[in-house]
Formats: sequence, structure tokens, C-alpha cells
Amino acid sequence: MKDNLNKFLSNLAVMTFKLHNLHWNVVGMNFVQLHEYTESLYDQTFKQFDEVAEMLKMRGESPLVKLDDYKKGATIKEIEAKAFTAAEVVGILKSDISEMAALADEIRKDAAGADDFKVSTVFEDYLKSYAKTLWFLDAMSVK
Ligand SMILES: [Fe+2]
Repeated sequence: MKDNLNKFLSNLAVMTFKLHNLHWNVVGMNFVQLHEYTESLYDQTFKQFDEVAEMLKMRGESPLVKLDDYKKGATIKEIEAKAFTAAEVVGILKSDISEMAALADEIRKDAAGADDFKVSTVFEDYLKSYAKTLWFLDAMSVK
């Protein structure tokens, strides 16, 4: 569980920066909408970043603290800056949020199996939020 929590923490760190890339570089008619939506998502990932690190501390474990370690530990990949269309942003978010949700579900199941409700309830909330985000992104993908 500790390894997966640190992997999740690393993904949250990478996501926070990656979301800023999309927030700054999205272009097109839906700029304002996606600029604001990505801001709401990086506010969430940054809050979760601290929450997950503190969860590790409460378990007597050490959260990773270095950017180098986050880059090594994350499965979410950074991307170069460019002008992103709204469709590209939605596509990138769908894929990354699905990956975050899969790992969150793995952590939730492990925690539930170990009767570790402090972790499982937090990850249930993350999964609820991911389900809503994925619904939004699917709705945005309809042409
Ligand atoms: Fe901003």
C-alpha cells in the first residue's frame, strides 16, 4: 500500500504541473471554459497531494518529497508545451483521469481488504469525483 500511495502522490504532483500546461496553453473558442475547468482540476490535485502525503505520515511512512522522485515514481507522463485544442485537452484528461481512477481503485480495494477505513473512505471520495469528471469529459467529447 505504501508504494501505491507514493505512486499516487507522484501522479498527483505530475498532474498538478501537467494541468497547468493545459490551463495556460489551451486555445480556441472554448478557451475560457477549459482554462477555468483545468484550474478547478489542479486545485483538486494539489489538495489531494497534501492529503495523500499526510495519510502516509499518519501511517508512520515517508511520503516522497523530491520532484526527481515524483518523475521517477509517476505513471502519468508529462507533455511538451504547445497550443492544445479543446478536443486534445479533453482527450488527454480522459486518459489521465482514467489512469488515476484505476490506481485509486486498486488502493481502495487493498485498504478495504485490510479494513483500513481511513484510506478506503478517502479513496472512495476520489473515485466518486473521478466518475463525475469522466462524465463531464465524455459529455464534452460529443460532437
Ligand atoms: Fe491560472
